[in-house]
Amino acid sequence: MSLLTVRGLTVAFRAINHDVPVVAGLDFDLPRSGALGIVGESGSGKSMTSLAIMGLLPAGATRTGSIVFDGTELTALPERRMRAIRGDRIAMIFQDPLSSLNPYYTVGTQIAEAYRAHRSGVSRKTARKVAIEAMERVHIRDAARRVDDYPHQFSGGMRQRVMIAMALSTEPELIIADEPTTALDVTVQAQILELLAEVRRDTGAALILITHDLAVVSEVADHLLVMRRGEVVESGTAAQVFSDPRHAYTRALLDAVPRIDDTIGELRST
Ligand SMILES: Nc1ncnc2c1ncn2[C@@H]1O[C@H](COP(=O)(O)OP(=O)(O)O)[C@@H](O)[C@H]1O
Ligand SMILES: [Mg+2]
Repeated sequence: MSLLTVRGLTVAFRAINHDVPVVAGLDFDLPRSGALGIVGESGSGKSMTSLAIMGLLPAGATRTGSIVFDGTELTALPERRMRAIRGDRIAMIFQDPLSSLNPYYTVGTQIAEAYRAHRSGVSRKTARKVAIEAMERVHIRDAARRVDDYPHQFSGGMRQRVMIAMALSTEPELIIADEPTTALDVTVQAQILELLAEVRRDTGAALILITHDLAVVSEVADHLLVMRRGEVVESGTAAQVFSDPRHAYTRALLDAVPRIDDTIGELRST
């Protein structure tokens, strides 16, 4: 049985006298410990897909279709039970770690309290230990000291590591990362992707990696969905889609992405 089975997922925004679909009949399966990449240009419905799975759609958006996580139909789940899954069995990592972290609390407090929110009865002391271990797992050096630092004392890449540590603390079965490297420098992007791949290997968590960069995702994901205007235009193994794209849109996406080696080539020739 798949960890996640999505059938006919549609997300629509209510307009004055009709609904505007931004995700239109999405189907996919994600096996346990699998890694699915969702690619597509900006506005293609990638974020609405992940928010629909998390039950976090903005006001005015409605979702229909079926989302089955580990045998449970999420679309039928009362919010109280969804809250127990969200941030615990399904964790989410967003593009901008700064806006997801509270500037007034140390990162350790934020990881520990997020953990305690899902583990009633766990002491502050134990949660702090969990926070330090999670920070070590994402290779934040000197974690036992850094746990008491505030978000602004970390670089962008290190803040994203903190967010991944927070996601990992509850040992989720599924991690959804929505453009987790878009706000970062190219070299740091590669490190964060490598970390996500490592986390998946070591913990066995399944991963949905959302990005507009086809090259980025094909390094980490086994399967790819290419989305355009809310629909899947192409899907297959990462190797297939990347090396032999069937759809003109996928080829255009590939061409639109500057390669690091191209950039180096350009730098050399100037
Ligand atoms: N609050 C909103 N009201 C109306 N339309 C929205 C809202 N949020 C997003 N959309 C529309 O939904 C579509 C899909 O958005 P999104 O899933 O965020 O795209 P992506 O993540 O692929 O860039 C876009 O066309 C966007 O304009
Ligand atoms: Mg998005």
